Amino acid sequence: MSRTDICLIIDFGSQYTQLIARKLRELGVRSEVVTPQISLSEIQERAPRGVILSGGPASVDDVGAPSLKFSVMDLQIPVLGICYGMQWIVKAEGGKVGSGKSREYGVEPITLKRGRLFGDLPEQLSVLMSHGDHAEKLPAGFKVCATSRSGVIAAMEHESHSIYGLQFHPEVHHTPQGLDLLRKFLLGCRFKFDWQSKSIFEEIESKLKAQVKNGRILCALSGGVDSTVVAVILNKIFPGKVDCFCVDTGVLRKDELKQLKDLFQQKFKFPIALVDASEKFLTALKGVTDPEVKRKTIGRLFIEVFEDEAKKLKDIKYLAQGTLYPDVIESVSFHGGPSVMIKSHHNVGGLPDKLPFELVEPLRDLFKDEARRLGEFLGIPHDFVWRHPFPGPGLAIRVMGEVTRERLDILREADWRLQEILRETNWYEKLWQSFCVYLPIKSVGVMGDQRTYEDLIAVRCVHSEDGMTAHIAPLPTPVLEAISSRIINEVRGINRVVFDISSKPPSTIEWE
Ligand code: XMP
Repeated sequence: MSRTDICLIIDFGSQYTQLIARKLRELGVRSEVVTPQISLSEIQERAPRGVILSGGPASVDDVGAPSLKFSVMDLQIPVLGICYGMQWIVKAEGGKVGSGKSREYGVEPITLKRGRLFGDLPEQLSVLMSHGDHAEKLPAGFKVCATSRSGVIAAMEHESHSIYGLQFHPEVHHTPQGLDLLRKFLLGCRFKFDWQSKSIFEEIESKLKAQVKNGRILCALSGGVDSTVVAVILNKIFPGKVDCFCVDTGVLRKDELKQLKDLFQQKFKFPIALVDASEKFLTALKGVTDPEVKRKTIGRLFIEVFEDEAKKLKDIKYLAQGTLYPDVIESVSFHGGPSVMIKSHHNVGGLPDKLPFELVEPLRDLFKDEARRLGEFLGIPHDFVWRHPFPGPGLAIRVMGEVTRERLDILREADWRLQEILRETNWYEKLWQSFCVYLPIKSVGVMGDQRTYEDLIAVRCVHSEDGMTAHIAPLPTPVLEAISSRIINEVRGINRVVFDISSKPPSTIEWE
């Protein structure tokens, strides 16, 4: 059988499964996530070069715990079990999995013994452990390749088959050598590592062509990077069939619409309509202070505006959205498990149940940096593509308390200055996100001989991999001083600037 260049990821329900897929894409390897119900013959039909068994929240001995219907030995290709995936291999092949005695959560040192997967890595590695169970006795033919501080078997491999198990998570960035380990596994599978933006675009193209049949696509442009990438993708694949709108919600950044219009009309020569709905949004937001109500209100109005616009057009059947993978997992429960809703992201959680359109979400499986690389590949200018993420509900969730036109104007001017300074000092591209938050909290100041009593701006600058975790960016004092003095001197209504020093978790990136 000739093998295809695909790695199958069998999903045992881990929150990190898509992260495995993302790391594989980063390494240039195409993957497909499948459920444990898949049969041996279905796998053989796909002819993958390798199989990865993900982690999962269950214990292998639980009633109804996810399980495969065949032995990994039958696959006859390299297999890597991660956490639950490893425990499942241990149990299925006749070893023993223990539970409870030695729970390990967090970054732990492990000591490497020997093993093909570890090659020339140093003897001590730092890895992310997240398990209650562990392998107590390995099945016949397997040997221990690493142990944790408390003596737990941290890695195993088969003596003669390419079957490996890792008790820790190589896919998270808390395991610094994780990518290297995945690469070594994939090398053993004989991948060519040639799955790049071009191939990702081609896969999106074939999925979209299968989904979009008759009818036109209404493309929801928010002004942000994701929806811009979506609009460019759709216009490339379905030229003449896409109606692009940018809705002025009144909660966009300074000059945002102008930049977008220039990009589309001058560079790409795609038509784009601007719909000024700012009055409608600001009226609906009057008196609203609850963050979730703000998000839901904006989500609802977005749909209303699009419905109104669609009615004016003929034949709209699809609504395109720039939903990314992190939006999906933070908004819906994972695989039907207990839902942990952190914030309702308006482009997913806030949608009404009954939509008159079918959703088209080409970036749904991608992480932010992948969407950006794809955007650059499609010809969107570097500076535009690497703009910091901007949330769908816009500045409404960056004005604490009630959103008013005046507060928004102040925030826009402050934020504009922050961005200018960060670009001038070469900090902009080092950051995941930077923005100002408006706090309607008065404090006393003195300007010239005048006492002032004005509102507050908070500055948020964070580093992050994908928005799921974040830590504060250590801006040097002179940069902080420049930000503060420009905002206070140039933005009327503000007499104090503070810097947010909270990481995510426990805080979130946005304030609401
Ligand atoms: P949080 O605040 O949850 O944000 O730590 C994580 C990342 O998601 C962005 N974000 C949103 N993006 N619609 C979006 O499209 C939203 O409602 C939304 N809320 C947060 C946020 O800016 C950060 O990059």
